[in-house]
Amino acid sequence: MKVLVTGGLGYIGSHTVIELIKNNHEVVIIDNLSNSELSVLSVLEKLTNKKLPFYKMDVKDEEIKKVFEEHKIEGIIHFAGYKAVGESVSEPLMYYQNNIGTTLNLVKLALKYKVPKFIFSSSATVYGDQQSPFDETMPRGNTTNPYGETKKINERILEDVAYANKGFNVVLLRYFNPIGAHKSGLIGEKPVGIPNNLMPYITQTAKGIREKLYVFGNDYNTIDGTGVRDYIHVVDLAKGHVKALEYNNKGVDIINLGTGRGTSVLELVTSFEEVNKIKIPYEITNRRPGDIDECYASIDKARKVLKFEAKLTIEDMVRDAWNFEKNLK
Ligand code: NAD
Ligand code: UD1
Repeated sequence: MKVLVTGGLGYIGSHTVIELIKNNHEVVIIDNLSNSELSVLSVLEKLTNKKLPFYKMDVKDEEIKKVFEEHKIEGIIHFAGYKAVGESVSEPLMYYQNNIGTTLNLVKLALKYKVPKFIFSSSATVYGDQQSPFDETMPRGNTTNPYGETKKINERILEDVAYANKGFNVVLLRYFNPIGAHKSGLIGEKPVGIPNNLMPYITQTAKGIREKLYVFGNDYNTIDGTGVRDYIHVVDLAKGHVKALEYNNKGVDIINLGTGRGTSVLELVTSFEEVNKIKIPYEITNRRPGDIDECYASIDKARKVLKFEAKLTIEDMVRDAWNFEKNLK
């Protein structure tokens, strides 16, 4: 299938491009490089041994029409968007404009050019503070920040458009916590500035860029008091997208991509230390506003309809994350 991947040079998009090519799909990439670098394109071309059509464009812009004119797009995977929760609180307009504007423009063109399949990067954040395991039949919950709200609004927009347009089929993938990197160590997560998320903060502490890790609270109702999350290797997550693309759905499907297993902050730190033989100094501090105690997926639907199950372990995730970070210049 010829697939348009928006945000294809970003963290999850780049890993997905590799899996798509491995599975004999053709890929066209749009990215405006707002949170990625052009050098990722040459790495992808090296790893896949293919020349990849790339358009440096803003997905909100009318000019992306050109991509649909030049290629017969049969499926779209829409990763392009901003994702920093804290920044979304201080720059809400920027988040609503980018995260919703991209989808509106893309969907308009998808309908015009009769693209039958649309896959959207949603997030477990849309479940809000309900009780884990989160399953897809639960209603969308309350979000605590504009980033999360854009995911909820995007889900609703895509549901409404699919309902009104037979033949426009949507899969809303709700990611849990993607971490890790490609085995080559050549692509991975490269946050700008101080990392907000746990794994990049751990790898930067291991490298000596950060003095110590701040653990946000140890009084949660969890196994050791620290927050529990469902970490999924980004390569497994990428494979889930290939399955979602090949799944012949009608209308809208919501599907979780997680492992179904929860890991606490301290468990992740211990695993990192054991696998990589590096000590991570840490200090327990206050809870971070908006955090919940536990967040993990029900994976029954992914198993049943996509025949997808994540294979890689926490050990694989911490090893690959470090392998990427330590090679970074
Ligand atoms: P990322 O920032 O690494 O990748 C996003 C890419 O989109 C970047 O390369 C950026 O340059 C590009 N982009 C942003 N706005 C654009 C625009 N208007 N036009 C063209 N390109 C644009 O992020 P990621 O971690 O790969 O996440 C991909 C998607 O998955 C995002 O929508 C994110 O919200 C969602 N998601 C991520 C996580 C996570 O933990 N990483 C969790 C849940 C959902
Ligand atoms: C966060 C976002 C979520 C987003 C996801 C992926 C919030 C409240 N939620 O999820 O909307 O979809 O990232 O971008 O920001 N932790 C520490 N110290 C740190 C960093 C994190 O102890 O320096 C803890 C957190 O309290 C949490 C766990 O580690 O218990 C994971 O945090 P993080 O990686 O930020 O992911 P989420 O909060 O699950």
